[in-house]
This record gives sequence, structure tokens and C-alpha cells, in this order.
Amino acid sequence: MRCYLVTGGCGFIGSHLVDRLLADGHDVRVLDDLSSGRRENLNERATLIVGDVCDAAVVKSAMDGADGCFHLAAVSSVQRSTEAWAATHSINQTGAINLFEAARSAAGARPVPVVFASSAAVYGDSEALPLQEAGVALPISPYGADKLGCEFHARAAARVFEGRFAGLRFFNVFGPRQDPASPYSGVISIFADRALRGLDLMIFGDGEQVRDFIHVSDVVRCMAKAMAFLEGQPSGYFSPFNVCRGERVSVNMLAQAVLRASGSTVPISHGPARCGDIRYSQGDPAHSQSVLGFAAEITLIQGLTDALTWI
Ligand code: NAD
Ligand code: UD1
Repeated sequence: MRCYLVTGGCGFIGSHLVDRLLADGHDVRVLDDLSSGRRENLNERATLIVGDVCDAAVVKSAMDGADGCFHLAAVSSVQRSTEAWAATHSINQTGAINLFEAARSAAGARPVPVVFASSAAVYGDSEALPLQEAGVALPISPYGADKLGCEFHARAAARVFEGRFAGLRFFNVFGPRQDPASPYSGVISIFADRALRGLDLMIFGDGEQVRDFIHVSDVVRCMAKAMAFLEGQPSGYFSPFNVCRGERVSVNMLAQAVLRASGSTVPISHGPARCGDIRYSQGDPAHSQSVLGFAAEITLIQGLTDALTWI
């Protein structure tokens, strides 16, 4: 049994990870400021510290005695990062650096391993599909730039103090607890909620942009594998890993799939394209498969039923 710190553990992905870690018999401590996360998401067997990852002293004390850390706390909306650039930068990048520094000193002799949420947004508008970790990463949003910055800092920390880091480039994650009430939430939760409430599905742009959707239970499984892998690394390790299915689905196709799965007949409308919106996103899962032994299992259609039932 180990003790893990999960930042952002009251959020969508983090709360599922907490459930999994507890089910595996570990102790879990959560650091979350409840800005987008909710207490109701959190398993009552976890210990909650309400605090901000931008506060280095709070982060250091939350890390004290932990055997490892999963860092998920961030503003997860690409759109929000274009509207509140400096504010999201301090959370999405400086918050991660606070975490990395705390990992350095937490256990005294040996830095604790850190699995952190990077993003497919680091690839920007690359057309070299499927996207590979060894390929070029040129972000086109403040959010993507900050996530790539986290990876650069992790790479440096692996050298400077021999920390162990895995930067998981999540593609588009969906499933229960993805908040449908927020306009900054993921497209599947928004479409599912609107279809069930009889409201039109609004597509930003022509809808031919593509995403690689992956269910949250697969993502959580990958995070656990990444931690086990890092725990077996001697010292000074960093690698990014795609966390994806390797399939491309256009937003137009997604809207039709949500209508079919929900039995709804609401109209589909179009609005202006979002600024900072990537056109084509489809990952190559080969590196994660060969190094971590991870392969996604849940298809978009299976997962849609799950997401609709939860709403
Ligand atoms: P979420 O908004 O549901 O969860 C984020 C959590 O972090 C929330 O509980 C929030 O309250 C907390 N938080 C935010 N700012 C904080 C701060 N300053 N201090 C402490 N806690 C803070 O989002 P999510 O979809 O679960 O995303 C989790 C992570 O995965 C994020 O790092 C996000 O960037 C990344 N990610 C998500 C997706 C996706 O499709 N959902 C894809 C790629 C990467
Ligand atoms: C999402 C994640 C981000 C992650 C990235 C990785 C969220 C909120 N964002 O960003 O954290 O790093 O994937 O790939 O989970 N759209 C509509 N109508 C809507 C909502 C969205 O057409 O009502 C479109 C968007 O313009 C975009 C696509 O759907 O083209 C996906 O949008 P969204 O779910 O917000 O995700 P990303 O911006 O890809």
C-alpha cells in the first residue's frame, strides 16, 4: 500500500483516478481548490486538502510523506486559456513547477515519481497524423503552450535533480462526471446534456475538425500503469505518452452519434469557429502500448451510453 497525492482530485478525471487508487488499496490525499471540481465527486475515503497549486507552501505540505503524485489540477479549457492568459498560465504551468519542486524534497533522499496531465493540445495544428510523441509539437493556444512548458520543466527536472516524470498527453477524454453545466466543459458532455434537454447542438465552425475521444476509465488505467512504470525507473526519467484510441471522429459525426445514442431529434446549428481550436487531432498509441503496455478498450459508442446515462 502506498500514499498518493492527487491534485485536481475533485475534478472529472481526478475523481475517477482517486476511486481507482482507493480500490487498489492505497491511501489518497487530494489537493484541490474546488474551482471547477466538486466535493460530491470525491470518494469519502480520500483526504481532501482545499488549497491552490499556485501556493508553493501548500503544495509542499500536501506532498509531505507521499510516495508519488498524480498532478491533474489545471484550467482544462483551451478556450478559457485564450480569455484569461496570465491567470491560466500561473495555474497550468507555475502550479506544475511548484509540484515538481515539492516532489524533489518530499521524500528526502529520492524524489517521488510524478505522473502529470499534459495534453494533445501540445501538437497544435500538425497535419502529421497520427500524431507521435517524437514528432514536432508547436502549440497554438496558451493552454497548449503551458502543457508543453510543463513537459520541458519535467525534462529539466529529470536532469537537475534526477526526478521521474511521465507527461500523459491525454486526447479528448469523456465519461461520467464531466460537468455539462459549464460552457468550458468537453463537447461530449455538452452535446449529451443538450440533446437530453431538447436544446440544439451548436457546432463551432464547419464541424469537420476531428478529435480522438477516449473514455475516462481507460485514461485512469493508463495513469496507474504510468505510475507503476515510473516506480520501476531508477532515477532521472522523463517521457511524454499519448493517451488516445488512435481514431479520428469529426465534430459533425459526433453530433450525429449523440443524437442516435440519445434518441433525440434536436436540430444541429453552427456558430463561429473557436479561436485556438485545433483542426485535426488523432494520436498514435504505439509508444504507450510498447512502453506502458496500455491499450484503450472502450469505444466511443460504448462510452456514449455511459456518459448519457450519467447525465
Ligand atoms: P476538471 O476541471 O474537471 O478538473 C480539474 C481540477 O483541478 C478541478 O477539480 C479543479 O477544481 C482543480 N483545480 C483547478 N485549478 C486549481 C488550482 N489552482 N489549485 C488546485 N486545484 C485546482 O478537468 P479534467 O477534465 O478532469 O482535467 C484534468 C487534467 O487533465 C487537467 O490538467 C487537464 O488540463 C488535463 N486534460 C484534460 C483533458 C480532457 O479531455 N478532459 C484532455 C487533456 C488534458
Ligand atoms: C479538450 C480538453 C482539453 C484537452 C484537449 C486535448 C476540455 C474542456 N478540453 O480540448 O483539456 O487538453 O481536449 O485534445 O475537456 N465544440 C463544439 N460545440 C460545443 C463544444 C465544443 O463544436 O458546444 C467543438 C470545439 O470547437 C472543438 C471540439 O468540439 O473543435 C472539442 O472541443 P472541447 O471538448 O472543448 O475540447 P478541446 O478544445 O479539443
